[in-house]
Amino acid sequence: MTTKISRRSFFVGGTALTALVVANLPRRASAQSRAINLYSSRHYDTDDVLYDAFGEVNLIEAGADELIERIQSEGANSPADVLLTVDAGRLWRAEQAGLFQPVRSATLQQRIPAYLRHPDGLWYGLTQRARVLYYNRDRVNPADLSTYEALADPQWRNKILIRTSSNVYNLSLVASRIAIHGESEARRWLEGFVSNFAREPESNDTGQIRACAAGVGDVAIANSYYYIRLQKSDDPADQEVVEKVGLFFPNTGPGERGTHVNISGGGVLQNAPNPEAAIAFLEHLANGQSQRYFAEGNNEYPVVAGVDIDPVLASHGQLQADPLNVADLGRYQADAARLMDEVGWR
Ligand SMILES: [Fe+2]
Repeated sequence: MTTKISRRSFFVGGTALTALVVANLPRRASAQSRAINLYSSRHYDTDDVLYDAFGEVNLIEAGADELIERIQSEGANSPADVLLTVDAGRLWRAEQAGLFQPVRSATLQQRIPAYLRHPDGLWYGLTQRARVLYYNRDRVNPADLSTYEALADPQWRNKILIRTSSNVYNLSLVASRIAIHGESEARRWLEGFVSNFAREPESNDTGQIRACAAGVGDVAIANSYYYIRLQKSDDPADQEVVEKVGLFFPNTGPGERGTHVNISGGGVLQNAPNPEAAIAFLEHLANGQSQRYFAEGNNEYPVVAGVDIDPVLASHGQLQADPLNVADLGRYQADAARLMDEVGWR
């Protein structure tokens, strides 16, 4: 049974309120072997079904940074067994704070590709999302699109839409370019790219896609699941956006590395009262059926091969993911922040 300590209403406009839900969990979920205390920044109703199928899951939901702070302040007495969050950049923050313990699990290592998990087993990717391009169909011929790198070309002057540099998805995208090209080449790319912005960065990922439809710019960058969400929406305004804007997977094709991907994922906490159950829980999320529901809950890609992909997402073709280890997105996170600041990406 899933005991929800917080509610969806805790999130306002996609942003977690700073006040924490002050609920105390027992240090150990229960004497049951399949019982855990889960701290999660994911908040989809479909997740509850998966948790129920596992056993007893006591859930505390809040924003990732709040959960990290909470686990730190709880210290050795933390009741948390598992932390789930989105973006390797955030998992890295938790890792840097010393929150995770290394997990060796043949099941996880076999099922989850090496590039989507921490090399020492501190955390594991459970779904993947691609950070893709969107183009205004009236203004852009998709044959003119190719790579993230090509968006630094002067032909895109005043045409690129993307959110602020403090956003972890963008920090991770830039970190990936540093890992791949090295810092000086990444900086050259960033200078051209940022000088092509259509406006000062504002709004969220969906806001970039809407602005692209409205003609504020020609090309937007946002995660794949935001577009699928619009595609599935009954709202005529959302349908109109989908009609005006196409989705493009950059850096794909022969000789290309693949599209930049990120993960939602989780790890077993250093002070987990029930680490055996915590590992079993991660293994449960990596089984075929869980993978399907967990990914579909947010229109993402499963990490396990051979699992069915949401049909609307699948209609865009097969994902060619960049096999860069997502741990590198954490490793170069600070360098990315510095470079983005230096080139004037607000
Ligand atoms: Fe998101």
